[in-house]
Amino acid sequence: MDFNADDANIFENMVTGGADRAKVYIETYGCQMNVNDSEVVASILIANGYAITSKLDEADAILINTCAIRENAETRVFGRIDLFGQYKKGKPSVIVGVLGCMAERLKDRLLEEKKVVDLVVGPDAYRELPVLLRAAEEGQKGINVLLSREETYADISPLRLDKNGVSAFVSIMRGCNNMCSYCVVPYTRGPERSRDPHSIVREVQELVSAGYREVTLLGQNVNSYYWEEQKGLLKHKVNFSDLLEMVALVDPRLRVRFSTSHPKDLTDEVLYTMAMYENISNHIHLPVQSGSTRILQLMNRKYTREDYLNRINAIRRILPDCAISTDIITGFCTETEVDHDMTLSLMSEVGFDFAFMFKYSERPNTKAARHLSDDVPDEVKTRRLTGIIELQGKLSQQSKEADIGKRFEVLIEGESKKSRDEFYGRTSQNKVVVFPRGSHSIGEYVYIVVTGCTPATLIGKIVKE
Ligand code: SAH
Ligand code: SF4
Ligand code: F3S
Repeated sequence: MDFNADDANIFENMVTGGADRAKVYIETYGCQMNVNDSEVVASILIANGYAITSKLDEADAILINTCAIRENAETRVFGRIDLFGQYKKGKPSVIVGVLGCMAERLKDRLLEEKKVVDLVVGPDAYRELPVLLRAAEEGQKGINVLLSREETYADISPLRLDKNGVSAFVSIMRGCNNMCSYCVVPYTRGPERSRDPHSIVREVQELVSAGYREVTLLGQNVNSYYWEEQKGLLKHKVNFSDLLEMVALVDPRLRVRFSTSHPKDLTDEVLYTMAMYENISNHIHLPVQSGSTRILQLMNRKYTREDYLNRINAIRRILPDCAISTDIITGFCTETEVDHDMTLSLMSEVGFDFAFMFKYSERPNTKAARHLSDDVPDEVKTRRLTGIIELQGKLSQQSKEADIGKRFEVLIEGESKKSRDEFYGRTSQNKVVVFPRGSHSIGEYVYIVVTGCTPATLIGKIVKE
């Protein structure tokens, strides 16, 4: 998952509904699942008579969909809540609601400690939002942070945030059962549950009909997707590999991505399915977290360094052109220089194409917070993180340079930020390419030859097939 999305996502392009409707402004932090949840929220609100606005100063209600994964994610949100408090002084009727993982983690403490907050709604309670908003309009503060074993919002078509209409997120499951010792997600998102595959395929078909060319199937651990249903006397079972195939078959021109894979559950079957369908993207995000087996055990990741490298070998064998990205946590409890060096050596051995890298941030009430001491000093964490970022910079550069002279099919996703004469798009390997637009349009596939690269992107030019 793209956890680097430290910038807020907002609905940039729309005010939906009639002019007389109350307008809601939604700001989103955190992972792609949160972005997709905000799309579900927008859809629920519109069906209940609200409009969505991209302009804070027009808003009758401000909703902030929050992330609790690291302390700095929460600090940022508190800053925003304080700012909305200032704003409310000038417009006392405005309602402020906190949604998402911080709402779930902090519950009524948010209402007690932040007087500006009128609503606190956890990730499984969004169907209640219209009722809670109406109550808040009457001056009543509201909270619903119940977690569910069933809720997947399967019947709700999310209102899409992507303004280009090319790429959409589709949640295939919610929650997480893995209990990695550092992680707050099992507490904020509840138990793992998979969504009905028929509703997933239906949503993907609707997206294709609406012109979308790429879907990203989302879950905290997509490889443990599992659905079972009774068909007459037989039990029909759908695992992630089956689901991937079902989605790939919707349309050969639809590019299919997925995130996130857990190394302990990524099967060869999934890799063979990826190899079989050209429209399944050649990219796997496989968070390793650490290169030291001892640290992995303390993290409760349930694989060793060797297990991880075995998975990498399987990917290289079955999918030679597959890009591999990862997440790394540095400075976890008891991490020594030897452990740190093992992370560096694993990174070099794998040659990750890109990585999201974080300093360990202790989260209250997690297993690590309860049983281990956050004993790596901050300056050591910073130094190790810098080392990891520098090494990844080199590996990413090598990965891009290796693409120079090669030809890729690229899906055009939008205009380049720097020049209106250029488009950007991504290769199947999820690498961004910038190139002169020619006579093409957003949403088309083109063939590109890579001619160079910058630290951030590949540079290319369109060629005939
Ligand atoms: N479900 C996904 C990702 C979950 S959170 C997975 O299992 O891979 C995304 C990333 O945030 C994690 O992969 C991890 O690298 C990082 N992360 C999670 N908790 C953290 C913490 N307490 N401190 C620092 N980084 C953390
Ligand atoms: Fe957190 Fe681990 Fe679940 Fe990922 S798999 S969400 S890191 S508990
Ligand atoms: Fe996502 Fe952050 Fe919650 S990463 S699941 S929004 S804690």
